Amino acid sequence: MPDTEAILKRPTPAAPEAPPPVSREPDGHALPGLHVPPGLRPGMPRNAMTTSPVEYVDEPLQVLAGTLPEDLQGHVYVAGPSVHAGSPALASDGLVMRLDFNVGGAKFTSATMRTPSYYTRQQVDAGATARGPLTRLLNRFRETTLADVSLTLGPVETPNTAPFLVEGERMLLVTTDAGRPWAIHPRTLKAYTPLGYLREWNRALPTPWLFPLLQSTAHPAFDPPERLERRTEDPRPRLFFTNHAPKWPLGPGYTQLVSWDTEENRLHHWKLMDAATGEPVVASSLHQIAATRDYVVLLDANFPINFWQIAAQAAVPFLPRVQRAVEWLTASPAAPQAVFWVVRRADLTTSPGTLDPVNPPVVSAHRFQAGGGGLHFAAIHDNPDDVITLVAAHSPTEDLSHTLQPGELLINGNRVQDWQAGMPTAVPVTRSSVGVHRIDMKRLRIQSNMYAHDDFTWGLTVFSNTGLVNGELEAHLRLQGHVVNGPVPREELALYLNSDGFTADMVPEALYQLYKPVVGDKSALPIRDGRAASFFKFFVDSGRFQGYVLPTGWFGFAPQFVPSARFPQVPHWKGYVVALVVSDPTPALPANSTGDEVWIFDSEDLARGPICRLGSPNFDVGMTLHTTFLPPGLPDLLEGRPPGDVAPYAVDVTRDLDMDTIEQAYLEWPQTLLPRAPSLLFAPWRLGVRWALNFPKLRQVLQDDVFPHFPRR
Ligand SMILES: [Fe+2]
Repeated sequence: MPDTEAILKRPTPAAPEAPPPVSREPDGHALPGLHVPPGLRPGMPRNAMTTSPVEYVDEPLQVLAGTLPEDLQGHVYVAGPSVHAGSPALASDGLVMRLDFNVGGAKFTSATMRTPSYYTRQQVDAGATARGPLTRLLNRFRETTLADVSLTLGPVETPNTAPFLVEGERMLLVTTDAGRPWAIHPRTLKAYTPLGYLREWNRALPTPWLFPLLQSTAHPAFDPPERLERRTEDPRPRLFFTNHAPKWPLGPGYTQLVSWDTEENRLHHWKLMDAATGEPVVASSLHQIAATRDYVVLLDANFPINFWQIAAQAAVPFLPRVQRAVEWLTASPAAPQAVFWVVRRADLTTSPGTLDPVNPPVVSAHRFQAGGGGLHFAAIHDNPDDVITLVAAHSPTEDLSHTLQPGELLINGNRVQDWQAGMPTAVPVTRSSVGVHRIDMKRLRIQSNMYAHDDFTWGLTVFSNTGLVNGELEAHLRLQGHVVNGPVPREELALYLNSDGFTADMVPEALYQLYKPVVGDKSALPIRDGRAASFFKFFVDSGRFQGYVLPTGWFGFAPQFVPSARFPQVPHWKGYVVALVVSDPTPALPANSTGDEVWIFDSEDLARGPICRLGSPNFDVGMTLHTTFLPPGLPDLLEGRPPGDVAPYAVDVTRDLDMDTIEQAYLEWPQTLLPRAPSLLFAPWRLGVRWALNFPKLRQVLQDDVFPHFPRR
């Protein structure tokens, strides 16, 4: 028996209290998933086509259900069109939003993207340059599925697609396929400069428009300085994007790869030539590109632009039936296969010639074909043994070049309702898949593995987040001075995607007929049952799917991964998925929900459902497109002076829109097409142009209503 007294007199020293074990899981990992009742009807809700015109600043988001984890912190930037029923959604003015997450609360700020052409449109449409009804009609901007277009002034530049941080320049861009990327102030969200002067870009149409049509990729790629160890003489990061034009009746088309050197702040161009045929590369659209260690990869995307459709919409806005007839009579189906073009970065040497946007040097591009068509992909940065790994969302028959028109016949015999008018035909008529492609650049071979899942891969369209695969997340964390946990383990490498599912009420019969040779008989389609929308995580290494099928009547947009704010204690690839969702109001909605909500998921267990729902009576954003994440404090850092106190990059908009040069271009345009013809022959043109454009009034519009919004920084 132990000597109790002795023990009490000589107690053994108490073991130091062990600190509680540190959880390597995000705070939200223990939270339960929420049950969400279904919405009003299957398919895309009416709410997807409404956006509040009010711009909010620091408007609180309330917790509607569940718990907001404390380690969800930082800023999610969202870009999308400011939609309203009746107007083509993807061509609508840009709306940028920032969701701010702090300990114990969330809020949102929103702003319309206003470019010089936006302000000009307001004045011209109000009649500022009109001499009478005819000139008013000629000058006014008309809605098309590409952008609002004036016959005399050109298209409105509408950045509405994706936020994108350019690390070296500390610039937060918002991109579009039909114009230059525009930089925004990260705090106010106001647009302040385009990337490059107009004269640095090659036009997609040979017109002298004040606002020329420019085509670029909506998803550029960039190379952060940490990856440039091989090029010590050029330590600044480079942004890669495109300047291209499809084959149109007014030109044969061209494809240029462009880099923007953040040291020089100038655009360098290279024209792509097919390495196999020696012919110029002409793509239908190049929605996304990616940079690897030694290569740049471009995806010829299935977003065909029909010149005749756009021309009819611009020319006869008052004859919708004629527009429609022209559209379907001239429509071509999107390519059934994805085409990747690969360029060796070693070939992209800059020279005085690469500053010429019209006739730059030529570089070889290698063509690889795989999978079904697609819009989005990501590339793993390393390409060991010259093998490039790509992950792509493939949707054969996906075609965003059409929009739903009121009364139009749908595949299920229904008619398009008024509130659907303007929705893009974003629902592919076949099941989609995710492709993992390995391109061996030594052997010039591609090997593809395709993965499909009946819950998740219907309707892979415009929304995905590639940050964990392409290094974007690590770049943003590093910029704020954070240490990350080394490379993401191969088995954890994943893409977060959403799918639109399948909804017969979004598929016009004419679209089905266009793709019938690919789709086959419609009896094989889930026309009656449909497929609900979903969020899912795709593991690149194993091809595994893990996800959440949304309740019927709910529709989701880009799922944005946000790391736990407790990294590196919690690995930086674990955290949350923040996604915008919409449904139509029902009595089952929580108080203060408009049906537009922000849902938070545990990134390691999407299937559990949202762990938190946020909303506000003022939260009405409708359809959105792409997102990016900035860690806490980074927006303030971006607003500050760059290292070396060098003035931030900004185009001088008064020089960009120099009316002396522009007026001369309008007057001399026919002579540039027919240089040998006598000048006198074009006197009527000069008279007509002076009458129609009313240059003194146009100058006044720029002076009074445009330039004051873009002061020199
Ligand atoms: Fe996109």
